[in-house]
Amino acid sequence: MSSKAELHFDGGSVTLPMVEGSEGERAIVIENLRAETGLITLDPGYANTGSCESRITFIDGEQGILRYRGYPIEHLAERCTFLEVSYLLMFGELPTQQQLDRFSGSIINHTMIHEDFRLFYRALPKDAHPMAACSAMVAALATFYPDSLDPRNPREVEISIHRLIAKLPTIAAYAYKHSIGQPFMYPDNQLSYVGNFLRLMFSTPCESFEVDPVVEKAIDLLLILHADHEQNCSTSTVRIVGSSHANLFAAISAGINALWGPRHGGANQEVIEMLQAISEAGLSVREFVERAKSSDDTSRLMGFGHRVYKNFDPRAKIIKKACYDVLQRLGVQNKLLEIAVELEELALKDDYFVERKLYPNVDFYSGVIYTAIGTPDNMFTPMFAIGRLPGWIAQWLEMHEQRQKIGRPRQVYQGEKTREITPIAGR
Ligand code: CMC
Repeated sequence: MSSKAELHFDGGSVTLPMVEGSEGERAIVIENLRAETGLITLDPGYANTGSCESRITFIDGEQGILRYRGYPIEHLAERCTFLEVSYLLMFGELPTQQQLDRFSGSIINHTMIHEDFRLFYRALPKDAHPMAACSAMVAALATFYPDSLDPRNPREVEISIHRLIAKLPTIAAYAYKHSIGQPFMYPDNQLSYVGNFLRLMFSTPCESFEVDPVVEKAIDLLLILHADHEQNCSTSTVRIVGSSHANLFAAISAGINALWGPRHGGANQEVIEMLQAISEAGLSVREFVERAKSSDDTSRLMGFGHRVYKNFDPRAKIIKKACYDVLQRLGVQNKLLEIAVELEELALKDDYFVERKLYPNVDFYSGVIYTAIGTPDNMFTPMFAIGRLPGWIAQWLEMHEQRQKIGRPRQVYQGEKTREITPIAGR
């Protein structure tokens, strides 16, 4: 259905085209608004602004629906692996066995990083946050691979994609190993994508290491659930950096930095610290909920609320169930899960959260699983980044296919009008 919108303003009116998405969302197209009227729109935080038309991920925040390329997240989580989902996001269809073998084979062949890379880590302080290390190392990949930086060359793009997906787990695990002073392990290409990552993180040269299939499956599930989420802060960052035709490594490095913030992917670390603080300080859960409601912005209930979901985040539901499964199968008692469940129950009955439609999001329960398998808090967000990587790449590819213009918003200037400089002696 194509319809039009009339915009009336002081001094005139204009007819604007509209588009309708395949799931019925409607948008007013303002591409020529300034050229035709001299006006711009103002939407800080972009809550009402579509930055693109996309075929990758669909979210219905009111109903709590998430689909990648048309497939419900619940089905993908149950029936696919992370590498299959990565392929789906980037190339539009689930792979055949042959396509998957070729794709996984190439990823496995690129898991090592250049030996000289280790010197970078040596220069970092031991307590460097691994997100800073990941972003720096991903940017540094561009210095090692000047042969694959052209975003308009399909073969170069393909190699960069494979290098990134293969190397980010190695890069993240080395940031952790550096922080605890353990030797960096070489990847083992006999293992699965996740099995290899677990080995890089948790094995040492002195002991044999068996990948626990329960842990392997749980992490694969978490990566699938984090793999894309349409135009969120880090993805929009990747698209906007990419729109300048910066290389893929540069765009992904920028995305990692955007993800790090506590309002975005950094929330998973904050959630577990919040649960630990409640546990250690002996605070009652009710006391904590009351604090989170205060107007003091720093005490939000981390892992709650979402710009798009005004209902349960479907990923949080899947992760909560996985928490019980994983803890039970590992035979681990976890006080933090009990506190999280109590917090959720209380908040969901509280008028403040009900009125604002604040529900648990993807970050609320993921840290419980990460902690149960021995992952340090500051590695939660790098693991989110490993999961989100194929989504960032898919969006970057789509942005280039659409030949999007450079991202360059306008502003409404509210500063001083032209002024004369007073000589310094007279100021
Ligand atoms: N605890 C307490 N109050 C909250 C929370 C929360 N977690 N989230 C939102 N509010 C309140 C907020 O204070 C505001 O209240 P009022 O209308 O009285 O000023 C109202 O709800 C709307 O909040 P907002 O900040 O305007 O909403 P937003 O859409 O801009 O922000 C959000 C969304 C995710 C940044 C926010 O809900 C938040 O900070 N949550 C905690 C951090 C978090 O869990 N982030 C992970 C998000 S999901 C994964 C990801 O994106 O990476």
